[in-house]
Amino acid sequence: MTGLAFSFDLGSTFAAVFGTDPTGTWAAPGRVNLIGEHTDYNDGFVLPIALPQTVRVTARRRTDGRLRLFSTQGDGGVVELSVTELAPGQVAGWARYPASAVWALRAAGHHVGGADLHVDSDVPTGAGLSSSAALTAATALACHDLYELSIPRAELARIVQRAENEFVGVPCGIMDQIASLCCTEGHALHLDTRDLTQHQIPFDPAAQGLRLLVVDTGVKHDLGDGAYAELRAGCERAATLLGLPALRDLRPDGLAAALDLLPDELRPLVRHVVSENERVRLAVKLLPAGRLEALGAVLTAGHASLRDDFRVSCPETDLVVDTAAVAGARGARMTGGGFGGSVIVLVDEPDVEPVSAAIAAAFGRAGYAEPRIFPALPAAGAHRLC
Ligand code: GLA
Repeated sequence: MTGLAFSFDLGSTFAAVFGTDPTGTWAAPGRVNLIGEHTDYNDGFVLPIALPQTVRVTARRRTDGRLRLFSTQGDGGVVELSVTELAPGQVAGWARYPASAVWALRAAGHHVGGADLHVDSDVPTGAGLSSSAALTAATALACHDLYELSIPRAELARIVQRAENEFVGVPCGIMDQIASLCCTEGHALHLDTRDLTQHQIPFDPAAQGLRLLVVDTGVKHDLGDGAYAELRAGCERAATLLGLPALRDLRPDGLAAALDLLPDELRPLVRHVVSENERVRLAVKLLPAGRLEALGAVLTAGHASLRDDFRVSCPETDLVVDTAAVAGARGARMTGGGFGGSVIVLVDEPDVEPVSAAIAAAFGRAGYAEPRIFPALPAAGAHRLC
């Protein structure tokens, strides 16, 4: 019933804006990463889940090569572009994400022409929950189906990553795109970002009396502001100095000797990447063994490493993690690129309310705006809705 009402609403907005009926609606989710942060561009391991919050793209093919874009969350205007004239750096604002997907599909040699697209989203933006990857992935999947392509999901994720790297200009890794396109309901996705090998690991905190919460601190993060690119460049420089293809190739038993070879400023970055890959290895042993309660300590150790070694946390995310620990949570860590954004908190079910209240109160005392807290339920990856 809800689904029908929902698709009717999307279809009627589309008809009102574009004067014709849509062919269908495609949805792609945001994500939280359980563990494995800043490892993807080091060829390492990650463990994300998809969120129930999605970007929906309602779409129809056009035969004239025009790309017309409308967003419910936009300024009410329609952005109109020509698919043959799309080029990096030439589209501004939210429209650059859907435009980037069309550009990247075409750059990869796929026949994609014009389309009318209506975008609607409930993935919070700037919250470290991958709203931009979800938007680009939803558009790519819509165009993929509209133009009857048959691209494997992992390859589609590479195309969407190229869209963000080259068209939007953000040097992100592949985690968010794979998470949005390949996660499955009730699972965390164990991904080797070097060869994109994937294992779906059952993840059901509720079955063990636990809950995973997302705390959106409200501190907007922006991967395009240069700090992310600097960290990535630092990691790549360290790998080059060590004569390794990527930091993923450095194992813990070689860490001490490797650190001796590096300049001071690169050492903490390398320490984080090596220890974080080990935390992913540990987490994927704990999950299938049903030892979710032990995952909490892994999360908290991951946060300490991001705060002290990688230095991408901020006072608000640190306050959530510290407050959650004192209030009895099993563990907590910032998730995503950092510099703000969201924290995940693992709690026993009876502690959801007291831990949430403690975080809200701590934010009030610190003079921060009230954080948004909601459950992280492992949801499906991108799919056609109707
Ligand atoms: C952002 C990027 C990802 C990844 C994370 C950090 O979300 O888009 O590729 O690097 O930061 O783990």
